[in-house]
Amino acid sequence: MKAFLFDLDGVLVSTEHNHFLAWQRCAHSLGIEFTEKENELLKGVSRVDSLKKILELGSKTISDTEFEALLKSKNDFYLDSIQELNQSNLLPGVLDLLNQAKERGILLGVGSSSKNANFILDKLRIRSYFQVVIDGNGVQDPKPHPEVFLNGAKALGLDPSVCMVFEDAASGIAAAKAGGFTAVGVGNPNIKDQADIYLNDLTAFRVEQHA
Ligand code: BG6
Ligand code: MG
Repeated sequence: MKAFLFDLDGVLVSTEHNHFLAWQRCAHSLGIEFTEKENELLKGVSRVDSLKKILELGSKTISDTEFEALLKSKNDFYLDSIQELNQSNLLPGVLDLLNQAKERGILLGVGSSSKNANFILDKLRIRSYFQVVIDGNGVQDPKPHPEVFLNGAKALGLDPSVCMVFEDAASGIAAAKAGGFTAVGVGNPNIKDQADIYLNDLTAFRVEQHA
């Protein structure tokens, strides 16, 4: 492989639970039931599409103004909850994997649906590992569409066939597969069957076997 493209939330950093709590608060404010089970549908999904899915779950319609207000309140609550985020919140094996890949000359990228990706990478102090960061601000079609990863590969000048994508979400695995990438599922047993390779966490990944 010539490049590794990483999803952010749930692969590099443990922010998925913060997203869950923020969406749960939002859903409850609408009187909609929302547990970890429903949250699985939202993993990797853009902010706007996530709120649409919550409204679908509750068969609710709201005005555009209310929709915008809920998006803002969800993001404010989420950002507040990650104020203290730092390197200790990196998921197991991340730093080791990034260092080993860097030593071997494998190019590194981030492909995230989040519009907060650069803010989070700076907090984690890992921004400089990546030659390319494509986030939710830079795509027309969010995951499960492959655009985010295709843009990443293109920016690196590489064909998807020589890039590996690391993902924790069904939408992200679908995006990787649709783009022609090798999809590595990480830390979410629900995606075991869709991924080409599945790992409980990144400590189990052997860079030398995929270099
Ligand atoms: C994805 C998360 O990385 O980003 C989703 O898995 C989240 O849970 C999405 O909804 C959008 O994030 P943000 O930070 O732009 O609201
Ligand atoms: Mg994710």
